[in-house]
Amino acid sequence: MPIRTRLIDSNPPPSSAITPRAVYEDRRTLLKALALGAAGSALAGWAARDARAAMTGPLATTRSSVAGAVTMEKATALKDATGYNNFYEFGTDKDDPARYAGALKIDPWSIEIEGLVNKPGRIALDELRKISPLEERIYRLRCVEGWSMVIPWIGYSLSALIKRAEPQGSAKYVEFVTLADPKQMPGVRSSVLDWPYTEGLRMDEALHPLSLLAFGMYGEALPRQNGAPVRVVVPWKYGFKSAKSIVKIRFVEKEPRTAWDKAAPNEYGFYSNVNPGVDHPRWSQATERRIGEDGLFAKRRKTQLFNGYEAEVGQLYAGMDLKRFF
Ligand code: MTE
Repeated sequence: MPIRTRLIDSNPPPSSAITPRAVYEDRRTLLKALALGAAGSALAGWAARDARAAMTGPLATTRSSVAGAVTMEKATALKDATGYNNFYEFGTDKDDPARYAGALKIDPWSIEIEGLVNKPGRIALDELRKISPLEERIYRLRCVEGWSMVIPWIGYSLSALIKRAEPQGSAKYVEFVTLADPKQMPGVRSSVLDWPYTEGLRMDEALHPLSLLAFGMYGEALPRQNGAPVRVVVPWKYGFKSAKSIVKIRFVEKEPRTAWDKAAPNEYGFYSNVNPGVDHPRWSQATERRIGEDGLFAKRRKTQLFNGYEAEVGQLYAGMDLKRFF
């Protein structure tokens, strides 16, 4: 499979806004050394100071203080995270997004806020990026198809944008609408999904601090195939809930229909929480393959309830029958 490794982005945030890749990789090495206990306490102190120093700058990403926001699991190789994608607007093969998304125009870009809010309106990307300081979040993402990755994202809690919009009491759900431009996106000319791609979250899910509005990954602005210039990442739900290249966020009273629900309602429920106990009608969800751990003898990992984020998000679903609300 041809794999593109170059990140193409004509509209990166100011260089001061992101942790350079080299610094990022260095920091990972240091953090790993700390986690392994390989560093003595003097070295540990030095390493921590050094890591903090590397993260200064007006919008530099910092390690997030949000519970569960940084897994110490090994990050997926950049070439896999940018070469093995689902972004049906560019085709249904895993290498189609890397191959065809390069032409996507992401400057100018804005998100329209509409529906049941006191402050509707259009927010330009520059302004959107400044709503809250950018953090690094290292999340597991588990695809409904049975594979997973670990990706260092850059963004801030979606709740910051939601609070700025001032939702009204009647707003119970948040709907995400993504770009559907057949001129730029060859997949939109096919009827594989009912375009535009839409997704949704219950308001308390959207407000959960782990729900991320993401602008970058691996220390740089988002590559187009990963949803440039802005997407959501909801780590305890199957990957398809993490809508890419968002153009509209709508606050609504009723549970919105989603693109996958419209395509196959018995296969994709609204909640789509990662759950090894609820199989997809056509395959088991009990295990997963970590991308990069290939080979004949690579062991599949056991899938964890809520993708391992149960301690953080389990209470959102207390008392709910997760087999019914899948
Ligand atoms: N967003 C849009 N607009 N279109 C898509 O086809 N695919 C989803 C999700 N967001 C998709 C999308 C699916 S199925 C997955 S698994 C994740 O994006 C993949 O994100 P990644 O390619 O950055 O790993």
